[in-house]
Amino acid sequence: MEVIWALNISWDAEKYTSDFSFVHQYGNSLLDLIDGENLTVLDLGCGNGALTKELAVRGHDAEGMDASEELLHTARTNHPELRFQQGDAVRLRTEKPYDVVFSNAVFHWIDRELQPEMLARIFDALKPQGQLIFEFGGYGNNALIHGALRREFEKRKLAYHMPFYFPTIGEYTSLLEQGGFLVRSALLLDRPTKLNGGDGLYDWVRMFVKTPFEGLHPAVAEEIIQSAVEELRAVLYHGGSWYADYVRLRCKAVKAPPEREAIFTL
Ligand code: BEZ
Repeated sequence: MEVIWALNISWDAEKYTSDFSFVHQYGNSLLDLIDGENLTVLDLGCGNGALTKELAVRGHDAEGMDASEELLHTARTNHPELRFQQGDAVRLRTEKPYDVVFSNAVFHWIDRELQPEMLARIFDALKPQGQLIFEFGGYGNNALIHGALRREFEKRKLAYHMPFYFPTIGEYTSLLEQGGFLVRSALLLDRPTKLNGGDGLYDWVRMFVKTPFEGLHPAVAEEIIQSAVEELRAVLYHGGSWYADYVRLRCKAVKAPPEREAIFTL
């Protein structure tokens, strides 16, 4: 695989694995969308490799790819029997085509402008009728959290630049069809997600929302996060736990075989 970087995020792999394990635990049900047995599967944005392992346990010939050296190190340490490679979804070039490209909680990190290129690279990486199965943050994902952060930025006359791409079903299935895929199913679902610990929301923001704070004085960043968390306590803290307002876009699409191309030209 060719390795060029469109994403350059530094991860605390240990904390990601210990405190944010819900990312891959929820991904387990996504695996049920795969049709067939003993398939070659690329786990795109495999993170710590937990779902790559689950794919292998289910009998597939699975390999993982991620842009993060830190997460790959954890994946290789935890699952030395599996193959992991460093690579970038937007520049993906594979030596062989796969039956399935699988991806959990990754595509929202890719800018809207780069999505068609990424889908084209995935299309090329699939065999005819190969399956693309993925889930990521859909329209409205973490709207309460980003809204509170935005208000705290604006109170300080600072601009809040939304660092993620959370599309509607309509927008994303159109991109898939323009890329030659036949969409088999698409679902936008609310999934309030319990966070670990008394500082769960504070830790979540620190872990995942990095770019809006770049260039800010650390004390200002701290004040913004603390104020946003306090504002959100009334809506996201229930029964002693924090919940993030997750919305998932879950899709299954297939690389349309040639006889299906006609439906895109009607
Ligand atoms: C998500 O899985 O929806 C997500 C996680 C971290 C940051 C943004 C979105």
